[in-house]
Amino acid sequence: MIHTSLSPNTERDDLWTAFKLLFMPWNWFHWKTGGTIPNLERTFEERLGSKHAVSFQRGRDALFVLLQALGIGSGDEVILQAYTCIVVPNAIQYTGAKPVYTDIEEEGFNMDPKSLEKALSQKTKAVIVQHTFGEPTDMEAVQALCKKHHLILIEDGAHSLSASAGGQKVGSFGDAAIWSFGRDKIISGVWGGMLTTLSDELAEKVRNLQAQLPLPSASEVASALFHPLVFALIKPFYASKFGKAVLVLAQKLKLIPKVIFSAEKRGDKPVFMPQRMANAMARLIHRQLNKLQRFHQHRVRLSEFYGEQLKDIPEIQLPRTNEQSAWLRYTIRTTEAADLIRSAQRKGIYLGDWYRRVLAPEGCDLKHFAYLKGSCPRAEKAAEETVNLPTHIQMTEEKAKRVVDFIKEYFPPSHQS
Ligand SMILES: Cc1ncc(COP(=O)(O)O)c(C=O)c1O
Repeated sequence: MIHTSLSPNTERDDLWTAFKLLFMPWNWFHWKTGGTIPNLERTFEERLGSKHAVSFQRGRDALFVLLQALGIGSGDEVILQAYTCIVVPNAIQYTGAKPVYTDIEEEGFNMDPKSLEKALSQKTKAVIVQHTFGEPTDMEAVQALCKKHHLILIEDGAHSLSASAGGQKVGSFGDAAIWSFGRDKIISGVWGGMLTTLSDELAEKVRNLQAQLPLPSASEVASALFHPLVFALIKPFYASKFGKAVLVLAQKLKLIPKVIFSAEKRGDKPVFMPQRMANAMARLIHRQLNKLQRFHQHRVRLSEFYGEQLKDIPEIQLPRTNEQSAWLRYTIRTTEAADLIRSAQRKGIYLGDWYRRVLAPEGCDLKHFAYLKGSCPRAEKAAEETVNLPTHIQMTEEKAKRVVDFIKEYFPPSHQS
């Protein structure tokens, strides 16, 4: 079976670590005495060349705390791009500030600098730039605008660990950056978030806030540790009704965590958020951080393969070639996206659906996130046409070839010019 998001980064040693941790609850939290969290933060600083890294249980927690530390609140506006996940505007709204959306570029999935200029107002305090699917945003233009208007620049690196722009690592262009180690990201700890900054003053504020946060509960950590194990068991049956039913049941029984909580889908803040990172997550993340380069090279290789193989299909728009992208997912566009995804599923190929909605995931009422339908037409059109091809480490070349063969079969040569 080929999948895009069934615990895609988990390898045997990660499974074993999660399994062992499950039976060592005394290792889940110890925060002050244990060196796991500071070790992870210091390693992350070194890897990114950032002066300060501060950890949280989720990337969205890192973003919310960062906005608080920056003093953003009621009466302020924060600009972000449409074609994102609801957790980003939520973090803004939790502070009392208003999310203001820009459209994306004509080609690509990142913020359009011209649209950014139009979205500016007297109330604008900060801009959040997202390097979607790992492709770096045009930082020169965005930086220039932020400088001119004295705005705080935040980079959302949730998709883009290991990406660069103009030879410079993403995450080092703005005043601060946030990162995610969620289950489908570049590396995973099931949950996990990080904030990086070069500013001593901002780091001190963030650390003070971090110190006041609660840790996740024991049941939250247990369910996170169950996640890779449950998926390892379910994956062989996932294509069957039985496999899907077991997955739904595991979620209902809270054996495995949901990615987005019900309150978040209504634009509300779950009472337990934000949280400090649990030790257990840091252990999983640290292990994965050591795999970053291998994962990255694999993603680059597969993306090159997809690009080469699919370049002659006129019905498909390929992503721009970019040697500095992190290639979290290889995202193509086609007007037949919905049917392509459904047809692939029938063949046991589960392609990705980020972002099939202008604010993902499906089933969220846009009005909860201050998004006006029709306001970002390019982002809305991209959402209709999006299909992600998997690039994670479980995708062997043989599996990637099966994806390519399926797409070629779906768009037969007789259709091609
Ligand atoms: C663009 C973007 N930013 C931030 C986040 C937040 O990451 P996390 O799931 O770790 O809270 C996500 C993922 O949900 C995301 O897709």
